[in-house]
Amino acid sequence: MADFGHQLPPLTPEPLGAVDDAVLGEAIGRHGRRGRATGWAPVSAPLAVYRMTSEQVGGVWPLIAGDGLPPGGALLGLDHLSGGAFSADPIGWTLNNTAGVTNPNMIFFGAPGRGKSGTVKMFALRQMAYGYRTLVLGDVKDEYDPLCRALQVQPHAVGHGLPARINPLDFGPVGNDWSRLSRSEAQRRAAMVFSRWLLLLRGLVGSQHVPFGPTAETAVGRVLRDLTGYTDGADRMREITIPQLWEALRAPGEELVDACRYADRQQFLDDTRPVRDALGALVTGHLAGLFDAPTTVSVDWRAPIQSLSLSRLDPLGDEAVGVALTCLNSWGRAMTQLAEPGDLRIVIRDECWKQMRLGTDAVKSLDADLRLSRKDGCVQVVIAHKPSDMLTVGDSGSQAVAIAKDLLHLCATKVLLGQDDQIGDELSGLLGLSAMAEHIVTDWAAADRGRALWLVGNHVAKVQTVRTSLDVALTETNDAITAPPPPADGVGEPGLAPPGGW
Ligand SMILES: Nc1ncnc2c1ncn2[C@@H]1O[C@H](COP(=O)(O)OP(=O)(O)OP(=O)(O)O)[C@@H](O)[C@H]1O
Ligand SMILES: [Mg+2]
Repeated sequence: MADFGHQLPPLTPEPLGAVDDAVLGEAIGRHGRRGRATGWAPVSAPLAVYRMTSEQVGGVWPLIAGDGLPPGGALLGLDHLSGGAFSADPIGWTLNNTAGVTNPNMIFFGAPGRGKSGTVKMFALRQMAYGYRTLVLGDVKDEYDPLCRALQVQPHAVGHGLPARINPLDFGPVGNDWSRLSRSEAQRRAAMVFSRWLLLLRGLVGSQHVPFGPTAETAVGRVLRDLTGYTDGADRMREITIPQLWEALRAPGEELVDACRYADRQQFLDDTRPVRDALGALVTGHLAGLFDAPTTVSVDWRAPIQSLSLSRLDPLGDEAVGVALTCLNSWGRAMTQLAEPGDLRIVIRDECWKQMRLGTDAVKSLDADLRLSRKDGCVQVVIAHKPSDMLTVGDSGSQAVAIAKDLLHLCATKVLLGQDDQIGDELSGLLGLSAMAEHIVTDWAAADRGRALWLVGNHVAKVQTVRTSLDVALTETNDAITAPPPPADGVGEPGLAPPGGW
């Protein structure tokens, strides 16, 4: 101990010598005891006195760290407010009522290129260790491809000239073993299937700005039941497609006209024409051949990730992509409708505003999915640039806008990546951010990629996501602008690229 400068006391303390009464009684002055090395000071030590309420303490001592969130789930990076590691576990937060989180949905906002998709990919990848499976509902930029391939899963691509077909009217696992179901279970499942189909058809018809009122709904519902064989009490429901529905509405039988209480066939045809024309766009329009035949993609639900690429539809415009997203959405819901308890899933909707722009019904459909997430054991992840993207679904004050605004509140976890000042104001208005939180979004988060303000229930975290070398390879989306230019005339000149790329 002596080597390190500590003098240990001797084993037996030396007996105290006689104490001089005069020394004991001597008062020590305000400047200390006079003399060298006795602590004497020429002026008395200033003592600052602060009085404040507990609310003001944070202003006087701003650097005191608060508690972070409990460590659980995907370890994503560093929380600069608590100084600790940051992990995201939306289902765990919901189950434990952490920070008042009541649902596992997450919404990501951020200017283009800030790292929204990258953060979501890292989240999904890390959650796989806890048994979560991921469904990417519509990869419009083919950017989940490297992640799927790294996990040895072949992503499915939908587009003209490609073999994959997706039938939005697929039964999904709900149709399995139909003939062995008890009558009440068959009825329950049929109700689930028909209500999902009607929601989808309402969305598709609504996207062409055609109203889908109760009369049209009755007719379409009846045709769906007839075509599947449900009306006749068939043992097994037949798979149907949108062209079959379209055809049946074009050539109604007397029985159908009667069942829907139309005066005659002509009245049926006149009344259902807008709905037929809207459905016709899927059968004969620019999406023909994509969503109008039985599904050929077989989804392996044991695989850690499934992705449906829509990048080939990009040239057809946002509306076409939106319609495709609506079909995929319904299809994805079919796939998840009968999940076993404890089967945990992450459903990623990147660029989801493209679907929402289709109108009120598309927004309602997303709203329904977000409301069901807790029951389904599903983490719904919505990615958008800014809130106003979602509010362009209709005129201000319209029902669509009211629902879109509500969607924000259906996501207990909001992740705000860097934004410019104007959008920072917009976010503050909608989410009620404090001035400090807004500053983090427009200043700190905007200074680097992968930085975000995480609003988890009533908890705030200032997180820098940290990418491992593996993550870098899986989240890089700047390849198109960073890759070396292709060699002229197809003649490569290996060795010309500088080390480390261009
Ligand atoms: N956590 C991170 N740390 C550092 N860089 C990152 C991080 N996440 C992503 N990046 C980088 O930022 C680039 C853009 O990321 P990403 O595609 O995830 O952004 P985005 O916000 O989804 O963009 P967009 O709105 O165009 O879809 C990536 O190529 C990657 O290099
Ligand atoms: Mg992205």
